[in-house]
Parts: sequence; C-alpha cells; structure tokens
Amino acid sequence: MARKIVVTSALPYANGPIHIGHLIEYLQTDIWVRFQKLCGNKCFYFCADDTHGTPVMISARSEGISPEDLIDRVHGEHLKDFTGFEIEFDNYYSTHSEENRQFSEYLYNSAVENGSIAKKEIEQAYCGQCDMWLPDRYIRGTCPRCKAADQYGDSCDSCSGTHQPTELIDAVCANCGAPPIRRKSLHYFFKLDDYGDRLVELVKGGYVQVSVLNKLDEWFKTGLKDWDISRDGPYFGFKIPGEENKFFYVWLDAPIGYMASCKNYCDRNGLDFEEIWNGEDWELYHFIGKDIMYFHALFWPAMLMSGGVKRANKLFVHGFLTVNGQKMSKSKGTFIKASTYLKHLDPEYLRYYYASKLGSGVDDIDLSMEDFVAKVNSDLVGKLANLASRSGPMLTKKLGGKLGKLDAEGRELVDKLIAAKEDIVAGFEGLNYSSVMRRIASLADDCNRYFDQKQPWITIKTDEEGTRVVLTAVLNAVKVLAIYLKAVLPGFARKIEAFLKVGELCFDDVEGLLEEHEIGKFQRLVERVDKEKVEAMIEESKEDQGAAEVVEEKVELAEPIEAECTIDDVMKVDLRVARVVVAEAVEGADKLLHLELDIGGLKKDVFAGISKAYDPADLVGKTVICVANLKPRKMKFGVSEGMILAAGPGGKDIFILGVDDGAESGQRVH
Ligand code: MSP
Ligand code: ZN
Repeated sequence: MARKIVVTSALPYANGPIHIGHLIEYLQTDIWVRFQKLCGNKCFYFCADDTHGTPVMISARSEGISPEDLIDRVHGEHLKDFTGFEIEFDNYYSTHSEENRQFSEYLYNSAVENGSIAKKEIEQAYCGQCDMWLPDRYIRGTCPRCKAADQYGDSCDSCSGTHQPTELIDAVCANCGAPPIRRKSLHYFFKLDDYGDRLVELVKGGYVQVSVLNKLDEWFKTGLKDWDISRDGPYFGFKIPGEENKFFYVWLDAPIGYMASCKNYCDRNGLDFEEIWNGEDWELYHFIGKDIMYFHALFWPAMLMSGGVKRANKLFVHGFLTVNGQKMSKSKGTFIKASTYLKHLDPEYLRYYYASKLGSGVDDIDLSMEDFVAKVNSDLVGKLANLASRSGPMLTKKLGGKLGKLDAEGRELVDKLIAAKEDIVAGFEGLNYSSVMRRIASLADDCNRYFDQKQPWITIKTDEEGTRVVLTAVLNAVKVLAIYLKAVLPGFARKIEAFLKVGELCFDDVEGLLEEHEIGKFQRLVERVDKEKVEAMIEESKEDQGAAEVVEEKVELAEPIEAECTIDDVMKVDLRVARVVVAEAVEGADKLLHLELDIGGLKKDVFAGISKAYDPADLVGKTVICVANLKPRKMKFGVSEGMILAAGPGGKDIFILGVDDGAESGQRVH
C-alpha cells in the first residue's frame, strides 16, 4: 500500500540569501521526497519563506523599501536558487499570508482559552533613535568577562561566555550606535511547562533521533521556562488579537507556516487540508538543523497540543556545514551563496557530494574543496558517467543501437545490482545516504571491472554479437544504477532515461530487463569538475564580503549544563597508564590519529581527534592516560577500543594529559 506523507524543511529567513549551508537541509529533504515518490508513495513537500521579525524590518528600512516589498523580492530569489538546484517543492509559500494569520490566531486563541498564556511585565532594551526594541543580538558592547570589544548582547565570540545584555560594558544599539535605554512593557508568555509531561512522552516515543534525545533530556532537567511570544511595535509581524501595538514573535508564526503552505496548496488543488494535515492516514516529517531543535521539539508540539492539532511523526535533525573543516567564512570565500555556486558549477556535483557525506545523525558535515573535486571526478564522472559513456555510444555507433539478450554472466552482473535494491531503499528511507552512495559506487566498480575484463572495444572488431551481449549487460546495469541515483541526481537520470528510451524510471523498474530494445542518442551526462571554476567561485564569494551580516533570531538559549553524573559513574572509569606504540595519520579523516596503545602488555587501537594538535611522530613512545574500559566503538575508519585523556577548546589547542615518563604502563591512575 502506498504511504501518504507530508514533508517540510525549515523555512529560510527572508533577510538573507540561500547559501550552501542551507542546501544541506534542502538537498537532504529533496532527496528523501524524490525517493518517496520514486517508491510510488504519495508525498508532498511544503516550505515557505520565514518573513517576520526585527531583521527583516531593519533590512527593509536600510534599503528604504517596505518589508512587504523586500519579502516579495527575496521570495523570488530564494525560489530561483532552489529551482537551480532542482529542489522541488510542491508549494513554496510565505509566512506573511492570510492562511498563516488565521492559523496563528487560532492556535493563540486556543492557548488563551485553555489557560496556557500568562502576562508579565518585563524590562527590555529599547533604542530611542531607531524607535525599536532591541533583541539581544542587536545590542553590542564589551564582554563583561574577557573585555573583548564589540560582542553580542547574549554571548561573546571571544571567550564563548554567555551573559545578559545589561551586563555588557558600554552597550550600544548595533544598528545606530546609540546607547539603549531600559523600558518596561507587558509581554505574553506561553506556559511551556504545563506541557512538560506530554512533551517528555512525545520525544521518548520516537519523535527524534536518539542522539537528539540526550540533548532534549538536558533541557527537561534544566526545566521548561515560560516562552515570550509577544513583541512590541514597531515590529513586522501579525498583530496579537485585541492588542494595538503588540505582535506575535516571529517564532510563534514561523512553524505555523508549514500548515499555511499546506493549506494554500490544498485550496488551490481542491484537496482536503483537514485530512492531509490532521488525518491519521498521513505521515508528517519535519527536516531541520540542530540549531532550531528547541523550537521544533518543545514550543511547536506544545502549541499543537494546546490547539488539538496532530504532531509530526518525527523530526529529522541534521548537523551543520563546515567548509574545509571550519565555519563558513566570508573572508575566506567559503560563505558561498547558492546563486554564486550556480554561476560556476553544476548543481549535480553538490547534490552528489552532500549525499555522499550525509548520514542520519546530527554530526556536522564537512565540505572539503579538495575532496569535493576528487570525489566528483573519481566517482560521479570516473565511475558512474564513464560506465554509460563507454558502452552506450559503442552500441549506437557500431551495433545499430540495438540491445541483444543477456547471457548467464551478464545476468549474474545485473542480478547483483538488482539484489542491492532492498539495502538501497532502506538506506534512503533511514537517511543513510552516504552508505547508499558507497554501495552504488562499489556496484559501479563491479560493472567497470566486468567491462574491462570483456574488452568490448577489442572484441567489437571480431565478434559483433558477443560484444552486443556484453554491452547489453552493461547498459542494463546503467539502467539500474540510474534508478538508484535518480533521487540524488535527477538530471543525470533524465539523460539516461532519454538515451535508453525507457520513459520515467522508478524503483518498480529495477527488476525489468532491457533486451532486444532500441536505444537512442547518447548525450554527455556530466563534465569533470574544473578546479579553476571552484577557485573562481571562492574568489567571487570573497568579493561578496560587503553583504550585510545575516542576523538570525534564534540564539535565545544558553547551552545547558550536561546531565548530572554521580560519583559512582565517575568511579566506573578505569584509567590506566599507557604507552603509545604506533601513531599515524588516518587517511581521509580530518582530525583523527590512529594510536596503538600498550597497556601493561595489552594492545588497544584508539582513534583520537588530535591530529591538528599533535604530530604523530612526536607521540610514539609517549606515556598517556587511557580510559581502558571504554566500550569499543565502531567508527568510520575502524574500531576504537579506548580513549586517551586530552582536553582543550579544540583544533590546535588540545592537550594530552601527561604522566611521568617513568610511570609503568598498565598502572592504574586515580
Ligand atoms: N527561519 C528559521 C526556521 C523557521 S522553521 C519554522 C531559520 N532559518 S535559517 O534560514 O536560519 O535556516 C533554515 C534551515 O537551514 C535551518 O534548519 C538551519 O538549521 C539550516 N541551516 C542554516 N545554516 C546551516 C548550515 N550552515 N549548515 C546546515 N544547515 C544550516 O532557522
Ligand atoms: Zn539604534
């Protein structure tokens, strides 16, 4: 039975362009939606621009246009970027819409009726010159702790400490430089804690991945605070019913935008919104980044509970993009806008690369420019496209473009590809794209090996029919691979469909064989990545630096302290002196060193994230402290059987805890 599924991606802010960080999310989601559709499931993909809030208001002011004009323009730009990357929404709407206003008022009114809204007077920063209340991010000043200048109102980039905006020394309005004043005003709060028990039940019941659960657990333990859902005018947003100059905080109406986008689509297509959004037959999934977990795992479901609306089946939370191991940076030219990328490179490269890196967890994803070029050229071009381009044109040019029949050996090859279907389907379903891509590349290796062994470019001179049989096997393999890749590389798959003359392929077509079938003209599938174009893209991104800094309204919460552990927990850790016998770099890993430790005669392999801080040659022979009873953990590069003690902020600044070189290996440490 076909499943019925609604999928959303987080709504990008309308105050900035789409960049390659965002694309992690929209590509991860788009691949999943395409995959569902290829499985024959009914699947809708809804998204919208997140249009309200202070940053949009300020951007519009500084451009001298109305916020409405600004969000209209940005809507067009965002959609153009998404289309350029073949991200295919069923509806891309806006939170500044009538549907959204109605749903927001409905959910708010329900919350009022069931006693979930409290009113409290609070004091906040206000800029008289800008005539505006200042969110924490719009106040800058000297850090009270480390005295670094020009820090945000809520946290310091220099010492990573968090603080109140009132604690900043010489605070000023980030917009105009005037010192802010403190003013009191009445605010509306959503009583989140009233939903605490039901939220715990929700998140423990499979609403999030396990790795996310731990984080949420900390938040539950720290306690759920009332949530301020109102902002005083001037503010770009929806007015709170019954108020003249108070508005819903942008994060109240933003997730409601998912519903509004669905409703708008249903109304335009004669579909029943109530059934699709709230019906039990329909599954609902939100794809989001880890920075907005709090909103989606706590506030949003609580509001839906209050309003009696169904919650999503699951949140799919992903990690953040780093480029060459670091945060995207304007000065390094790695803050790359989607539109800049599209000027220089084929979108399918990035689709392929991200898919090859994405797993189901919340780990950050690194785009290493060197690895990007290498992987696309070796796998996408060298293995996958090559297989088609060395077999297809030969059949058309030399053998009249007609496939023959498979022999036993060819059948065996094709069967091996077909047999991978179950794993590949499960891999896509479970968001394990990187393992799917590895599997596909290894199947392509098998096919290329078969081709090399059969040497059709030689046999064609003497044995046309034998060669036809070989090419038939290879082109059947190409067809199966095209289906497996289609969710990731829609353009690539379209070209294969056209040249194999097979119509639109889907997963049901994996098993069918192409025999005695006429194929069409081959067209090149994908070009090699040109390193110079990558460099040109980076150069152009450096020039973009002048672009206004994008301020995001979401840093509301300090990182909570980890969950408690007892002295008994600590005592379980068995610390031993160990001697480093082997230390070596791990190929393909950015931060890892592989260490072989000798713990009083016992050998253990350990992978440690210290390669930025230590040269392996300096470590051999050193005495370190090791957690000897750590449960072995399978990592990408091998099994790690222990852990050495080291600490520091990270990168170059990690320090291995030392012991006297005389200490005996295997000795217990306290
Ligand atoms: N407007 C809010 C979301 C509201 S959803 C009801 C927002 N917008 S955003 O533009 O900042 O981010 C949109 C999505 O892109 C978020 O899920 C965010 O996590 C993701 N990403 C933004 N930058 C990213 C990276 N650098 N890396 C990976 N994902 C990133 O948050
Ligand atoms: Zn100001």
